[in-house]
Amino acid sequence: MPGKCRVLVAEDDKATHEEWSESLTSWGYEVAVAEDGDQALELIRSFSPQIFLCDLKMPRRDGLELLKDIREMGLELHTVIISGEGQIPEAVQAIKLGALDYLRKPVDPHHLRQMLKTLTENISVREENLRLRRRLMETGELGPIYGQSIAMRKVMSAIERLAGSSASVIICGESGTGKELAARTIHELSPRRSAPYIGVNCAAIPETLMESELFGYERGAFTGADRRKEGCFELANHGTLLLDEITEMKAELQAKLLRVIEEQRLRRVGGTQEVALDVRVLAASNRDIERAVKEGKLREDLYYRLGVFTIQMPPLRERTEDIPLLIDAFLNFFAEREHRPVPSMSEECRDLLKTHPWPGNVRQLRNVIERAVIVCQGSAITAADLPPEFRSHAQGESGWLKIRLGSSLEDVERELILRTIEYAGGNKTRAAEILGVAPKTLYNRLERYEERQS
Ligand SMILES: Nc1ncnc2c1ncn2[C@@H]1O[C@H](COP(=O)(O)OP(=O)(O)OP(=O)(O)O)[C@@H](O)[C@H]1O
Ligand SMILES: [Mg+2]
Repeated sequence: MPGKCRVLVAEDDKATHEEWSESLTSWGYEVAVAEDGDQALELIRSFSPQIFLCDLKMPRRDGLELLKDIREMGLELHTVIISGEGQIPEAVQAIKLGALDYLRKPVDPHHLRQMLKTLTENISVREENLRLRRRLMETGELGPIYGQSIAMRKVMSAIERLAGSSASVIICGESGTGKELAARTIHELSPRRSAPYIGVNCAAIPETLMESELFGYERGAFTGADRRKEGCFELANHGTLLLDEITEMKAELQAKLLRVIEEQRLRRVGGTQEVALDVRVLAASNRDIERAVKEGKLREDLYYRLGVFTIQMPPLRERTEDIPLLIDAFLNFFAEREHRPVPSMSEECRDLLKTHPWPGNVRQLRNVIERAVIVCQGSAITAADLPPEFRSHAQGESGWLKIRLGSSLEDVERELILRTIEYAGGNKTRAAEILGVAPKTLYNRLERYEERQS
């Protein structure tokens, strides 16, 4: 542990706390002393102790009240209660409120020293873990999560807090706000990090294939099933499974999904044997999740099971203070990838980017910077290096699609779909909304275009 471990002693008896203060200092701790509960609370804030030795009975605020305060503040403070004669029931209650242990008066100095040593070792290990986790957060497979706005800091601390457990989390937010990035980071910071992380997009997989995609199938389960195949759940065993765009899964399958998640076992399609699982399930959605539940797009029971915790990714337009940071991060990233010096960016260009509504959020910003780094001629990016919609936006025009007479309906449809996706900043769900079709229809069309191309 860098520096000395800070211990707060709260004890109203002067002789006792003077003696303890002396011993603890000689054992190498940094000590602060409180003579009553109010002073203890004050020192918890200002001295930020790591260990708290707290007398159960004190004037103004007793040990139990202090434990409740600590819990409410969400502090990680290793508290040991010092109890007097006949206070066992209170000491037990203190443990329930989060105290780690209790010592009976009179306290044996050797015992106290040993206990403090063990606590300090535990704290060191925890702090080291936290440091490692932070480092991982900075070097995760998808790169770091950037953001210094209050909204993003909240997201990051939620990610850190939830990473340690195996609880389900629903991650909501508009397209391109970093839901997938958040899910991966949760996995990478979790004890499951050495096991696989699997993401499956429920909107992109045709309904008929979804069940076998998730749960796998046995040989002969249907025509074409010439060998057994493991589904996403099995592939993610001991690791993490992200169900992306969960609301696009049909209700019947949602019911099966709930059963699998609850029982942590599944039967492959066409199979009779059950396979035991240990999978942490995360879900993501760019819909308003509560509305989706009301509209019957997400089964209520599944929502309750998955939404033990939810993380709301804030849209970029509500945290424009993060834009300069993201611009610089992406400039560095793409310049390095393109093996060229990091270009600067004109003020006009920065302003355009800062005031853009960003329907496609961080993804769109990232794409815009990638494009600019590639097309930029000199050492500085200017407004001319931004996509046409920024320039026309600057000139007060709106987006148009020119159709050549003689085009087939199919070509026009294709062009309209692709350009609308562009217009929506790559946000396919939003594009589908604009076009007035279901996201699935859009994905089907895109798949068809890809097939035509190949
Ligand atoms: N805070 C951030 N810092 C750095 N990069 C980010 C951040 N948020 C998103 N990105 C980047 O933006 C892109 C889109 O992020 P991601 O795929 O996680 O979004 P999403 O919310 O899952 O989008 P969709 O709804 O379309 O699936 C990725 O390249 C991701 O690395
Ligand atoms: Mg995503």
